[in-house]
Amino acid sequence: KVYKIAVVNGDGIGAEIVPAGVSVLKAVAKKHGFNLDLNELSWGAGHYLKHGEFMPEDGIEQMKTYDAIYFGAVGLPEVDDTLPARDYTFKVRGKLKQYVNYRPVKLFPGIDSPLRDKTQKDIDFVVVRENNEGEFVQNGQIMHAEEAGGVATDTSVFTRFGIERIAHYSFKLARKRRSKVTNVTKSNTLIHSLAYWDRVIAEVAEQYPDVEYNTMYIDNASASFVLRPEVFDVILTTNLFGDILSDLGGAIMGSLGLGGSGNINPEKDFPSMFEPIHGSAPDIAGQNIANPIGQIWSAAIMLDHLGETEAAKDIMKGIEHTTSKGNLTKDLKGNASTSDVANSVVNYIETS
Ligand code: NAI
Ligand code: MG
Repeated sequence: KVYKIAVVNGDGIGAEIVPAGVSVLKAVAKKHGFNLDLNELSWGAGHYLKHGEFMPEDGIEQMKTYDAIYFGAVGLPEVDDTLPARDYTFKVRGKLKQYVNYRPVKLFPGIDSPLRDKTQKDIDFVVVRENNEGEFVQNGQIMHAEEAGGVATDTSVFTRFGIERIAHYSFKLARKRRSKVTNVTKSNTLIHSLAYWDRVIAEVAEQYPDVEYNTMYIDNASASFVLRPEVFDVILTTNLFGDILSDLGGAIMGSLGLGGSGNINPEKDFPSMFEPIHGSAPDIAGQNIANPIGQIWSAAIMLDHLGETEAAKDIMKGIEHTTSKGNLTKDLKGNASTSDVANSVVNYIETS
């Protein structure tokens, strides 16, 4: 079996953590008897600075020819306010119908999480972020109303179609886990959009009587991430809330650098894209000190999506082995380099 994978390093630390992840992918493919046809695409802010665009005009069409996309992070602060930068991830996720942003949160052994007294069992949940609509549709304008001295708007868009499909995904996912879905919302103040969101999700919930369903407001959910993370199994939430909560998820794991994710097209009519939850971390780029675990975890999520579940599990065991040995990068108060951590995971895979 051969999987054709587009590899996009992107910007900043992408050039270090993506090759780290690729070395793990190669090791696990060899061990589990499948082949990877890896093709590197040099897209991102660096590409923009040279060519005036983040990717070629037919970039999306090119992406469609792959089984999956293995992605670092794009963006550099100096180009963040350009139109292509603002457009890039939203466009890819939308055009490839990656309407699920799957962002697991769990505690790895040997890591000093800010939630020290919690156990591994206490923190094991998934943030399912709606990835194609909601607050991030870029539907708004800056107006120059004289009296207000300027007015700006961003209008969220929630469709029944969009809510139903992300809800079905979440309930099905819960069935494979601990059978609980928490809808994180704010319908008490966003009385139109999120009241509708709640109503449609409640309708879908009725089709899954075996799955426990509850709702929680985003403010309370944020506090609960820190105070009682054990109440969560599958969190179903909007694009903006999911973006924020997943960084908080990274923080309670011990570092933003630990979080892996998938931008998933569940129907598999177009490829899905796998990337760490963080950005390109230009402040630490080029020093071989970035934590590659989020990128490596994303490789496991990718293989799981492609049906290579045993290989995915092997990667997770390699990560746990590595953290339990205290083989940690600087963000986790260790002194291992990016490549030390990757080599440790590779070594575990090759010798276990
Ligand atoms: P960031 O996530 O890149 O960095 C935030 C902080 O976390 C920094 O101090 C960084 O050093 C640290 N950090 C992040 N990943 C790390 C890792 N693997 N190991 C150790 N430390 C790590 O967020 P920031 O600084 O807001 O954005 C930087 C650039 O990345 C911007 O241009 C932004 O637009 C872009 N970005 C891209 C994303 C994507 O491609 N999906 C997502 C978020 C930001
Ligand atoms: Mg984010």
